Amino acid sequence: MLKLSVIGTGYLGATHAACMAELGFTVVGVDVDQNKIEQLSIGNVPFYEPGLDELLKKQITAGLLSFSADFSAIKDCDVHFICVGTPQSKTGNAADLSFVNSALEKVAKFAKPGSLVVGKSTVPVGTAARLRSQLKQINPDVELAWNPEFLREGFAVEDTLNPNRLVVGVIDDKSEQVLKQVYSKNLAAGIPWIRADLPTAELVKVAANSFLATKISFINAMAEICEAADGDVTVLAKAIGYDPRIGNKFLQAGIGFGGGCLPKDIRAFMARAEELGAQQALEFLKEIDAINLRARQRVIELVRKDLSNDLKSKKIAVLGAAFKPDSDDVRDSPALDIAEQIRSAGANVTVHDPKAISNAQKRFPNLNFESEIEKTISGADLVLHLTEWKIYRELDPAKLKSIVKTAIMIDGRNALDQDKWRAAGWKFRALGRVAK
Ligand code: UGA
Repeated sequence: MLKLSVIGTGYLGATHAACMAELGFTVVGVDVDQNKIEQLSIGNVPFYEPGLDELLKKQITAGLLSFSADFSAIKDCDVHFICVGTPQSKTGNAADLSFVNSALEKVAKFAKPGSLVVGKSTVPVGTAARLRSQLKQINPDVELAWNPEFLREGFAVEDTLNPNRLVVGVIDDKSEQVLKQVYSKNLAAGIPWIRADLPTAELVKVAANSFLATKISFINAMAEICEAADGDVTVLAKAIGYDPRIGNKFLQAGIGFGGGCLPKDIRAFMARAEELGAQQALEFLKEIDAINLRARQRVIELVRKDLSNDLKSKKIAVLGAAFKPDSDDVRDSPALDIAEQIRSAGANVTVHDPKAISNAQKRFPNLNFESEIEKTISGADLVLHLTEWKIYRELDPAKLKSIVKTAIMIDGRNALDQDKWRAAGWKFRALGRVAK
């Protein structure tokens, strides 16, 4: 049985490590963050991801999964997965590759001859080839492949154990065979296997995320048109979604996409295209980004309209802080961006979220946070629904009406039942829908 190492133990790496152990491999997860390693070693996942906690504890107890802050722990491993982050650089749109570069250097130092380094991080096309030549200079008997990851936060375990496709960028048959061994259970289950060269494998990932971002911004552009023409974007989305060539997924209009992936990936893709002299091909992504950011402003406009353009000292309740439900990730969260902008315009803003409060507090110390929905909403002049957690759909509008000052609900995610809220006496607003 192959021994695996996973370098970087964030959302991607911790999940990958636990899932590879679940597939039966002995896995060591390595990270420079000593604190994270200590937590993971005792079975604590330092972020919220459904099902991961249980899986991690199970595999640590089974003796298949361990963690270390010492990179020499990888020296007996046959395959090394690089799962470190590639955030947007502080100075521009390009990806910051410093974590990938430093991970590669460390792996190159300790990898045994004949082992395979497999990149999973999202990188600008051309990175894998560059890393491979650096690796070969330090450790000529080690090969490099690229195997992009498509997991969604909130479904990370499910997506890793049952991916909808496996893409491997390889230089030779031997690397492909090693990866086929790693994923033999997935292959036996009939999961499509796509062999590609290194640049194509890198591109598949950013192309997929760009397509998803485009779909979301497309429906948000339709929402703007519906608002101008008194249409209803939720009905429009449903109707076009029945065409199997379009499909009904990722057509939920609202305050748009955020998180640690889609926004920075489309920007890094544009930056890379420019370096390659192919910027014209991705000009449209600028518009995708602009439509996405505009959705946040459109919600703020609705708030202003309903409060006669005077936000000073108004009490606004915000439901949701995470960039999407079933996650405590607040990176580039549209909900928090909106909450902060309303606060800086003079409103008194209180935010509720079932899982993301502590992360949100660190980034936005000036916002108020509440762990109980009733306390968040009590006395509010207006309520904003900005992350579509299931608990918010289950709220009783009639009961809540008695505790707010003014019963105005703005649904930034088009996820609440507007008829139910209106019937309970609320003024209900949503993006891309007729105001009644
Ligand atoms: C995304 C991709 O979906 C994954 O396939 C990819 O592996 C991952 O990025 C990554 O690159 O690591 P994720 O960031 O977890 O996954 O979140 P998504 O489910 O894609 O949602 C992204 C954002 O779009 C969220 O803010 C969500 O609220 C928003 N969204 C999604 C909409 O506004 N409307 C929709 O219809 C769907």
